[in-house]
This record gives sequence, C-alpha cells and structure tokens, in this order.
Amino acid sequence: MQKLTAALVVVVGLVVFPRATLARDSEVELACATIDVPALGEPLPAKVDACIATILRKMPLAQKVGQLTKYTWGALTGPAVGLTGGYEELIARGEVGSIFNVADATLVEKLQRIARDHSPLGIPLLFGYDSVHGYRTTYPVPLALAGSFDVGLAQQAARIGALESAYAGIDWTYAPMVDISRDARWGRIVESFGEDPLLASRMSAASVRGFRSHIMATAKHFVAYGAAESGRDYATVDMSPERLYEAYFPPFRAAVDAGVDSIMVAFNDVNGIPMTCNKPMLRDILRGVWGFKGVIVSDYGAIGELMAHRVARDRVQAGKIALEASVDVDMQSAVYAETLAELVLRGEIPEALIDESVRRVLRAKLSMDGWNRDYTPRTPPPLDRSFAREAGRKSIVLLKNEGVLPIDKHRVKRIALIGPLADSRVDMLGPWHGQGRPEDVVTVFKALTERVTRDEVTLTYAPGIDERPGADEEPMNAIERAVNDARAADLVIAVVGETEQSSGEAASKTWLGLPKAQEQLLRAVFTTGTPLVTVLVNGRPLALPWLDDGAAAIVESWHLGIEHGHAVVDVLFGDVAPTAKLAATVPRAVGQEPLYYSMRPSGRPLRGADSGILLADYPERYFSRYIDEKNAPLYPFGYGLTYTRFELGDLRLASSTLTPADTLEVHVRITNVGERDGIEVVQLYVRDDVATTTRPGKELKDFARVDVPKRQSRDVVLRVPVRELAILDANGVPLVEPGTFTLWVGNSSAGGLEAQFEVTP
Ligand code: NOJ
Repeated sequence: MQKLTAALVVVVGLVVFPRATLARDSEVELACATIDVPALGEPLPAKVDACIATILRKMPLAQKVGQLTKYTWGALTGPAVGLTGGYEELIARGEVGSIFNVADATLVEKLQRIARDHSPLGIPLLFGYDSVHGYRTTYPVPLALAGSFDVGLAQQAARIGALESAYAGIDWTYAPMVDISRDARWGRIVESFGEDPLLASRMSAASVRGFRSHIMATAKHFVAYGAAESGRDYATVDMSPERLYEAYFPPFRAAVDAGVDSIMVAFNDVNGIPMTCNKPMLRDILRGVWGFKGVIVSDYGAIGELMAHRVARDRVQAGKIALEASVDVDMQSAVYAETLAELVLRGEIPEALIDESVRRVLRAKLSMDGWNRDYTPRTPPPLDRSFAREAGRKSIVLLKNEGVLPIDKHRVKRIALIGPLADSRVDMLGPWHGQGRPEDVVTVFKALTERVTRDEVTLTYAPGIDERPGADEEPMNAIERAVNDARAADLVIAVVGETEQSSGEAASKTWLGLPKAQEQLLRAVFTTGTPLVTVLVNGRPLALPWLDDGAAAIVESWHLGIEHGHAVVDVLFGDVAPTAKLAATVPRAVGQEPLYYSMRPSGRPLRGADSGILLADYPERYFSRYIDEKNAPLYPFGYGLTYTRFELGDLRLASSTLTPADTLEVHVRITNVGERDGIEVVQLYVRDDVATTTRPGKELKDFARVDVPKRQSRDVVLRVPVRELAILDANGVPLVEPGTFTLWVGNSSAGGLEAQFEVTP
C-alpha cells in the first residue's frame, strides 16, 4: 500500500492540492488496492475484473476518455499538435491515462501522487519511454545485437534496459522494434533486428521476455513500416498478404506469443489503409485471429495524421475510425480527448467501445501494480559496463581480413589512428540512446590509448577531417596530417562512418556511401601503402565496394554504446574473436535496394556465381539484372568472419521423407581447423523446390551459435517443424505443399552444404 504520509500539501506548478482534498474513492480502493498482483507475466487474479467493473461503473465519460489519452512531457516533435503542459490539472481531474517521456523518478512520483491522491477515482498513471538500445547503460543498437545471433544476449539487454527504466519510475517501454527491414535507405533499419523473419522473431520474443522482467513491453510498429516505398520514412506500403504473412507478421506474432503487453501501430498505410485506423489488420487479425488482449497504442500524434492521409475529414472522424479499429491509446494527438465523448453523445460510437479500451488500459495498470507500488525514487543501479562490453564484442562483424587482424604486437609498433569518429563519444551511442550520456562513452581512441600504453606501441591520432561547424582546420590540412601519420605507421586504423543522427527515425538516405570527405581521406591513405584497418561506425548497411577493394581489413562495429571503444579494441587485438554475422544484406550500390537474400527468383534469374557478374563480363543481357552493377550484394546476410577457420561436414538428415506433422532434423559436424578457439553461427536455409506460388530463393529456418575449441569438432543438430514451411493457399490459409525441398547448412546465406528432403501429404 502506498503510505499516506505525504506532506501537508503537494505543490505542482501553480496548482495546489491541499491534503484536505485527498480524494481516494473508498469503493475503488477496496476493489483495486487490495489485490495481490503477481509478477509481470503471471495471470492476473480474478479480483481484477471486479476492480475494473467498479471503476467503469463510477467513472464519468470524460475520465474514461482520459484513460485512453497519453501526453508527452516536454517538447513536441514533427507535426504533432496538442498540449505542451498543464498536465497536472488534467491529471487531477482524472483526464490523463499515461505520460510519455518523463525520465525522472522524482517527477514520476509527483505526478503519480496527483493521480493517486487527488484525482476523482485515484487511478495511477502509466509512464512510457523508449528503451530501444538501453536506458542509461547504452548497448549495441538492435541491428548490431541481432547480428550476435544470440537470443540470450538480446533478452539480457532488454532486461537491463527495463531494470534501469523501472528505477526511473517508467512502467511501459516502446520496444522492441520488430519491423523487418530490407532497405538500407530507411533510417530506422538501425532500430530493427534486420531483414530476416526467423532471426527477428527470435530476437523479438527474447526482448519481450527481457523487458517484462520489470516493465511492460511494446512490439512496434505494426505493421510493414520497414517496407516504406523508396525507403522514405513514413511513406506508403503496398504489400501482398503472402508477404505480410511470411515476412512482416512473424516477429509480431512471436511477441504476442511471448506475452507482449502492448502493440504500437505504424505510421504508414498498408494497401491503402493507414495502420492507425486499419480495422481489418488490428481488430480482425491482431485481436481476432492472434487473440491479442493487450493495449494497442497509436504512434506519436498518428491519430491526428489521419487527415493528412486523407482518410478522415476532420479530427472527429479520425477519432472514430481509430477507436473502431481498436486503437486503445492516443499518443499525443489529443484527438480522443477532444472527440470521443462527443461521438458517444451523438450516438456515433457506443460507450461500450470506449469501455472495451479502458478495460485494457486498466488491466495494464493493475499488471504494473499501480495501486500498491511505492513510487518513492530509489538510487538507480550503476552502469552495467561489463554487459555493454560483452554485447559490443558479440555484435562486431568482421567483413574483411587480409591477415592484419588480430594485431600482432610483435610486428606492429606504430599505429596511426585516423577518422572523425575515432574519438566522438556521442556517435558511439547510436540514434535512440535514451538517457545514455556521451560522458559515459569509451571511444576507440580512449580504449586504444589504454591498450598501447600496456603493449608499448606508439599511437598517433589525427581525425583527418572535421566536418563539424566551426572547425578551424582546412580539410586538406587535416587530411595531410592524417596521411603523414599513416605513412609513418605500421598500421592505420580508421574509424569512419555515420554520426548517430544519420540513422533512426526520419533519417532516410538516398546515398549509402561514406560522407565524401571521409572517402577522400581513406583514398588518400590507400596511396601510402600502409595496411588499413577500417572500423565502420554506422546504423545501416553502407555500400562501399571501393573500400572492400582497398582496405586490408574491415570491421563493422555499428553503434555499440558506452563500451564501444573497449569492445572494438578487444577484437582488434584478439582478446576476443569477432563472432557476429550480418543481420542485413550489405549492398554494392544504393540502386540495388531493397536488397535481401530471400528474394523470389523471377523467370530469368541470375543465380549463384552468375549474380556476381557484370554485364560486361557476361553479356547475356536479357536476364533480371542491372547493366551497370552486379546483382550480388557486397556481403550477404548471415556473413561474418572470425579469427579461426571452420569446416562443415557429415551432413545428415534424421529422415529425408517427412509429413507436415514432423520436424526436420539436420545433423552436421563442424570442425575448427584453425589454431585458436572459436565460435561459429551455423545456419540452416530451406527452399521449397516447386510450389503453387513462387517461393523465396532460400529462407533461414534454424541456427545455432556453436563454441568449438581449436582442432576439435562438434556435432550440431538443427530443427525445423515442417509446418513452418507452409505457404498461404488461395484462401489465405497456411498449407504445407507436398514435394521436394532443398536445404543448405552454412555460415552465411551464400552457399553451404546441400541436401534434399521430401514432404509427403
Ligand atoms: C515515434 C516513433 O515512431 C516511435 O517508435 C516511438 O515509440 C514514439 N515516437 C515515441 O518516442
């Protein structure tokens, strides 16, 4: 029970709520505050229904609408309209259900006290906040984390984000972001688990479990947001039911099955209906078919945007169609607050529809034990540096290595560190870093300085370019200095790529190269002949074929968070080997986008080795190809090198004839033929050879991260329930078609050991 030992008055801004007005409704308190709420994820006791019924019976319409209304604390962004303050009074009137963007436990306590002690029915608030790659302990961005292929790591990451959020009084995060992203132009690819439905689904479920250890999780953005046309954020999406079913739904379904508390709807329209009012998708599929009972929340201001989509004449109509579609909570547009009561009075929507949504919000509040929680601020836990470092190490992808890595301390005595990102703290955090602070970040420069002191190596550092306004050095001088350092060194380490604001929301790009000045810098370094290790910092796949030609090694480090520098240096010096794989295909050119490994074949495919051939070398023009670029990516999905070599062999199927009720079981032996212990991600891909509809060239169906000591072997078993090979039949019903399937077991989506199996009816 919250103790009633508050000070005599609660002063909030200009509004004074004297103790005398303490207005807890005794009937509601009796019904709601006496419930023993189990841990998150456990079923709520039956008494919850009586609590909710009591509230609904006593609650006036305006307060019901209030429960469906969420306001933002602080500045508004984008076209959002609505209040920017004065919330205390509204809370005291019971007309606010949740608040977004408060990251301050003292303020949370203050606002909760108004809600609990001074609003008519004493209903607690929910506080929402995005913890996309950490709250205060910033760890690798989801696109990087997914590359670890380590679901336990994703779960732990979410758990840490949730724990720190909970200490700040937050009870509802808007994560994980589980949009399938197959277009590197789209800036939000950084927040996603990449292009593959299976990998994203496993990461999605793990994250939901992790968040739910302390707070409510939200799977977002339902649905197909990542397929925005032209890769432009918020843009329209037109998509077949088959593709929705096979690619875009699965990570959401996995979140629902893992017990996700809420779903955020996407900004975009799908097949002509904005998701914010997409009744067939929300009410019929998400709630009807999948049985989702949690809270559906709009995206920021999105109900108000239905007019810009031109599906609502005015805010009244916007409110009506969003609620009818089953969107429970209006984030920031204030459309519900303004219109729902009027719609009921006019008889245009039944009050029961509002009650339905209020019930879901109240259940969420009960699940967070809102009535009994002690909101007194607690000292937050310290930064979890060891997790951030481990997660960073496990998220780094080695894209190229001509024998220069790990750095040999006996040969390399002088290192030239260059590049504008080598000592840029904020850019290591990544675009959605919550309460992450630049001062917490260890940069590559910092970590390398510690390291070379220990190993008696000389280190020079010259950024080579300073693009920030106010830089007093001429770009050419900056490049010259870096190039001189490079010439005098045994090894160059260049940290280049994107700033943190170059990806994320509203950060779509038409150019996937490096900023021109950085390219110029690296090309100048090529001329010195000193081997170049490039460490890429970025939030999306970058198309850099020229770098692949010229660099001795390329380390894809994404944005790794506060321990970025340590994680990178640990890998460069071989304290740990890189083990991650690409969760998204890296293109050769922006014009190839959207590019993903599981494309359908076409009637004129360029296949396998042919897809890496230019028209000039293989002048068969009339195939599905470009006249100026290869079809093949620069690096395929699932690809990543390490410091040892593995061989796969002894591929064996437990049975090569299966029925739809069976599980395919694939055995393979992996041998570490190198001289150091290692970890490999063994990947199983399957293709339906002949089907009623065209099928993806191959699809990831299982994977395992396997530890293999040097010169030893391990037997790996991969499994696929045959029902997961279903396609949608003409009526939209999943069906496994009998016939042959080909499978590949390998260490990326390209190549691998091959076998066939047959599915019989
Ligand atoms: C808009 C974004 O699309 C969404 O992902 C986020 O949760 C909200 N803003 C709130 O920050």
